[in-house]
Amino acid sequence: RKRLTINSLQRMKQERNAISVLTAYDYPSAKLAEEAGIDVILVGDSLGNVVLGYETTIPVTIDDIVYHTRAVARAAAHTFIVADMPFMTYGASRELTLTNAAKIMQQGGAQAVKLEGGAEIAADVEALVKAGIPVMGHIGLTPQSVHQLGGYKVQGKTEKDAQRLMDDALALEQAGAFSIVLELVTEPVAEAVSKALSIPTIGIGAGRGCDGQVLVYHDLLQYASPYFEKKFVKTYADIGSMIRGAIESYVDEVKTGQFPAEEHVFQPGTASPQALYG
Ligand code: KIV
Ligand code: NA
Repeated sequence: RKRLTINSLQRMKQERNAISVLTAYDYPSAKLAEEAGIDVILVGDSLGNVVLGYETTIPVTIDDIVYHTRAVARAAAHTFIVADMPFMTYGASRELTLTNAAKIMQQGGAQAVKLEGGAEIAADVEALVKAGIPVMGHIGLTPQSVHQLGGYKVQGKTEKDAQRLMDDALALEQAGAFSIVLELVTEPVAEAVSKALSIPTIGIGAGRGCDGQVLVYHDLLQYASPYFEKKFVKTYADIGSMIRGAIESYVDEVKTGQFPAEEHVFQPGTASPQALYG
């Protein structure tokens, strides 16, 4: 199958064909996401939480994102890959923003970058787009600003906040963003923003009016994620229990001597290990 483009994503919005987005951070997650037919893979800085064990996304570095994006790109040659620009790797200067986005594209192999923020980063978005780098916006709850926001709270609850979200979304579209993530936004506000924009919105905890949805891989699979109990997450499998159970069986069989069994061992005169790994 062919990799989607920013044009095909725009068309999907027009045709009301919902866009499915999933995060992935390494070869197996990206390979399975692509095989399952996901439209867009996001190498999110949520990798800080679900892969690296940090409490927030703030410690994630540009090198972390490049490293994980490379693994994803090797696994998903037919899927549109967006990678997050980490905390403070953009915005402080135009040069910093362009240099770091270039790293993600050139060394990581992503097709686009995602930045958190609204009107205040519109000029950076415009500079990236002019340089030929597709940009996905991200407004609402922006985890890199968790300390400024005072926690992981639903956004858009007051009229003033709703208006600010609308203004930010329009500023990002105006600056040339090809899509915008709406995170933890009340359903009516996310729907109104989606209707006001010609570019697709991708929601997470933003209700049914968005043009697409995104979930975090480890949340969807209940894969040792501390966050899968969040209200907006739906878990489609309990992979964590499966993995833990399998490892418990392995430990048990090693202790009891059930593993390795006759079929797992080499005797003189049988095929060489090299041939078996072929
Ligand atoms: O890092 C991430 O996974 C994200 C999505 C939740 C949108 O930014
Ligand atoms: Na992110």
